[in-house]
Amino acid sequence: MLEHMHQKSSICVFGLSCFLILLVTFPKAFSLVHPISVKGNYFLDSVTNEPFYIKGVDYQPGGSSGVSDSVDPLSDPQTCARDILLFQDLGINTIRVYSINPELNHDICMTMLAAAGIYLVLDVNSPSPNQHINRYEPWLTYNLDYLEHVFKVVEQFSYYNNTLGFFAGNEIVNDRVSSKNSPVYIKAVIRDMKSYIEYNSPRQIPVGYSAADDLSYRVSLSDYLECIDEHPNDSVDFYGVNSYQWCGEQTFYTSGYNVLVDDYSSYSRPVFFSEYGCNEVTPRQFEEVQALYSNDMIDVFSGGLIYEFTQEPNNYGLVEIEEETGNVKLKEDYLSLKSQFQQLPELDHLQVNLNMKKNAKEAQNRLKASQYSQPRCSETYQNLDVSKGLPKNIADGLIEAGVQIQRGQYVNLKDSQLKSGYSYTTSNGKPYSIKGSIQRVVDYSSYSSDPLKKVPKDFENCMYDNDLIHDYDEEIITNGNGSSIHILPKLLQTIESWLHKFKKSNT
Ligand SMILES: *[C@@H]1O[C@H](CO)[C@@H](O)[C@H](O)[C@H]1NC(C)=O
Ligand SMILES: *[C@@H]1O[C@H](CO)[C@@H](O)[C@H](O)[C@H]1NC(C)=O
Repeated sequence: MLEHMHQKSSICVFGLSCFLILLVTFPKAFSLVHPISVKGNYFLDSVTNEPFYIKGVDYQPGGSSGVSDSVDPLSDPQTCARDILLFQDLGINTIRVYSINPELNHDICMTMLAAAGIYLVLDVNSPSPNQHINRYEPWLTYNLDYLEHVFKVVEQFSYYNNTLGFFAGNEIVNDRVSSKNSPVYIKAVIRDMKSYIEYNSPRQIPVGYSAADDLSYRVSLSDYLECIDEHPNDSVDFYGVNSYQWCGEQTFYTSGYNVLVDDYSSYSRPVFFSEYGCNEVTPRQFEEVQALYSNDMIDVFSGGLIYEFTQEPNNYGLVEIEEETGNVKLKEDYLSLKSQFQQLPELDHLQVNLNMKKNAKEAQNRLKASQYSQPRCSETYQNLDVSKGLPKNIADGLIEAGVQIQRGQYVNLKDSQLKSGYSYTTSNGKPYSIKGSIQRVVDYSSYSSDPLKKVPKDFENCMYDNDLIHDYDEEIITNGNGSSIHILPKLLQTIESWLHKFKKSNT
């Protein structure tokens, strides 16, 4: 730990006003890496119960050839250090990686990300044979070799607390034939991953799907993946939308974001942009960032990931990596995005909390009406063929035996490993000034004490004085098995921790 936690000095007896004091007096507590969980249509920090909004980028340097027997985006500590310095400079809290090789070691890069307070959403597929589902003839690729690969990724990354979730698939349904043949297989992979996690993983890591935003399937596919077909295991825990509809100068309405919000407004799970950032008008200004975190969207969307960090042939990059040297040249897009993130106002906490309460009530009503808080599947979904039902479960043996792969673990990092040996320049060739070293904002090494957990005594007294949250703790949801799940956060902790993430975080 580089900094000491601040001791709280005030005594909380004044209701609302005291939480303002709290905000001021201990904004810097170091916390462990808190896993993210899903409650209703929110991601929550599973320790503080604060809602978690994804503010991130997609990260796959080298594109599909960036993963091989010897290297992948999270295997080389030096390039990780180089890029995590920029992630912190941008002020993001999440990256998405599309393909990794589970045979490689990812401990150092994952520890660096954890230390920097950055979460990972990881796709389990890769372009290699036996490592993805063929969208046209999925029955040929849905087999034990494939599932073994998927489970290896899950097994290894389950052990990192900063693995936010897994994508079971990306844009598998994207035309008429794939929409006929693949939906039931997508659901089967989700089912198998969730069963594997339930049986083998140290915690319940959310499993989702990342969809091409095609109007023919926008609503129907999301509904189909949300519903419970045979068992709650087969429904997604979150839904990612790849959206490129805000191009150049737009507004919430001219971009059609308002329609997206309407379309997903009753979704029972978190929805976010798993890719966004149209490049039809360049350099990109990223004004959609302001819309995404505004009151127009925060009740339905949990943020998003800008496509993408490095420049690849399709021209979506924020930075160019020089092939020979590995040095970084920042495009104008990088600076625009950074400035958009810096201009973000704080989220409207009150609105989020009121909506969480509404969301909890809706979930509760669904639970009362049926056995589950998600809808049951219908017979048909528009433009999809789901008539054959899920393919037979073939994974039980593999799930019970578990797969053989190195489990991820955090390691001790030397200060020297947090520094980058690469140079950073702007597009006109000037040196770009950046911190010399990754800032440790999270304690990834101490298993014994959690500063956030030590605090609550006065915190709680203070909380119950506050009319705003008076009845929040009564919101408890009972799931189908009769066990109880608290669905609502403690407002003060929520607000306190949000400040870390949404104020300009460079302390
Ligand atoms: C991971 O999260 C769990 C649950 O909150 C916690 O008990 C554990 O200490 C965390 N581990 C690290 C290394 O942060
Ligand atoms: C779903 O997960 C449970 C563990 O909670 C497991 O026992 C069950 O076999 C799984 N169901 C299916 C259909 O895979």
